[in-house]
Amino acid sequence: MKVLVIGKGGREHAIADAFHRSRRVTKIYAAPGNPGMAEFAQCVDIAAENVAELVRFAKATAIDLTVVGPEASLALGIVDAFQNAGLKIFGPTQAAAQIESSKDFAKSLMRKYGIPTAAYQTFANFDDAWGYVQKQGVPIVIKEDGLKAGKGVSVVHTMDDALAALKAAFAIADNKVVIEEYLSGFEFSLICFVCDDVVLPMEIAQDHKCAYDNDQGPNTGGMGVYSPVKTITSEMVDEAMNQIMIPAAKAMVKEGYPFTGFLYGGLMVTESGIKTIEFNARLGDPEAEVILPRLKTDIADVIENILCHQPTTLEWDSQVVLGVVMASAGYPKSATKGARITGLDQVKGKVFHMGTAICDGQLVSDGGRVLLVSAKAPTLQAAYENAYADVARIQCDALFYRHDIGKKDM
Ligand code: AMP
Ligand code: GLY
Repeated sequence: MKVLVIGKGGREHAIADAFHRSRRVTKIYAAPGNPGMAEFAQCVDIAAENVAELVRFAKATAIDLTVVGPEASLALGIVDAFQNAGLKIFGPTQAAAQIESSKDFAKSLMRKYGIPTAAYQTFANFDDAWGYVQKQGVPIVIKEDGLKAGKGVSVVHTMDDALAALKAAFAIADNKVVIEEYLSGFEFSLICFVCDDVVLPMEIAQDHKCAYDNDQGPNTGGMGVYSPVKTITSEMVDEAMNQIMIPAAKAMVKEGYPFTGFLYGGLMVTESGIKTIEFNARLGDPEAEVILPRLKTDIADVIENILCHQPTTLEWDSQVVLGVVMASAGYPKSATKGARITGLDQVKGKVFHMGTAICDGQLVSDGGRVLLVSAKAPTLQAAYENAYADVARIQCDALFYRHDIGKKDM
């Protein structure tokens, strides 16, 4: 079986790694891939957004299965294009990907189908939005519509910050803004393999979205993660599946946008039950890097079976995987690139490349989030210690990381 993985981040590195463990997969291509993936996959120099070229490549190479990592490719309609060319691909169509690409679409769907989520209203102009915020007061949550790489959300606690966030959001032409009730509680990520109304849950992971220790600083794409999450009981998973994930998949079928691919629920345990913070139409990054290494079932079998509506039993490694993101100084606002990274040959666990490049034969940083350093161990505490021991083995003077990944659950 020849597989193509679309994307170049840590998530795609983890997807390719899972295929690398498959008994059936003989060749893995990654477009465009990264230096970490290049150790076992063939990287093809085609951007993840160059849909026409990717279709041509997949046809010419007789790819048996394509898996898409990034939301941007999905929102461009890569799945529609592959399907129209008769190519097998695992991911949502452009219409189904709206569950992530439009917050307004997702919120309307949840409202219509009674899927628990924060109360909200959508606004198309500043004056109405500001009037609403003044009436509601703070804390409140301001979300720009559209794909923002985890950065278009402002959780504000003062009216000054609310005003600044609204001004920034409406500075972008034609922006729609969703204003949401503030929820508090324990957040977790539940990602499912989905094909129409067949929904297969993976193990729970917990992301750490704030840039700095103790959940301080701006929201990011995620600064560290672990799986499993002992705070989330099997009863909570059942509630999340029955109230949120399965109803969402069924709602998408009913609306005429059946969903295929990885459906990601960003969920929160609140005093009034589990609520949806957001849906994503793809695997989480960094969640994929700690969930997929625990999947013992062959991922090629899982995807092929679910595409024929044959559910599979997923088997999981009971050990804990914890990952620490090393990000460029300045992330999420800016990112320094081209800083030399050494010491990867000293690490004992597994390192996923999130934003690296080879320059003059040297590994260098090449983006906001650069590396995810992970360890697998019988306990969260041991995984924490091992992952941070590996972080200390990596040298690069332009990276920072959080020191408290997993601490809340220890
Ligand atoms: P999102 O991109 O929608 O997942 O939002 C990013 C982060 O902002 C989430 O992971 C939460 O930590 C926070 N957040 C989003 N919506 C809310 C909400 N309604 N109440 C509290 N925090 C929220
Ligand atoms: N880690 C959060 C996300 O992938 O959206």
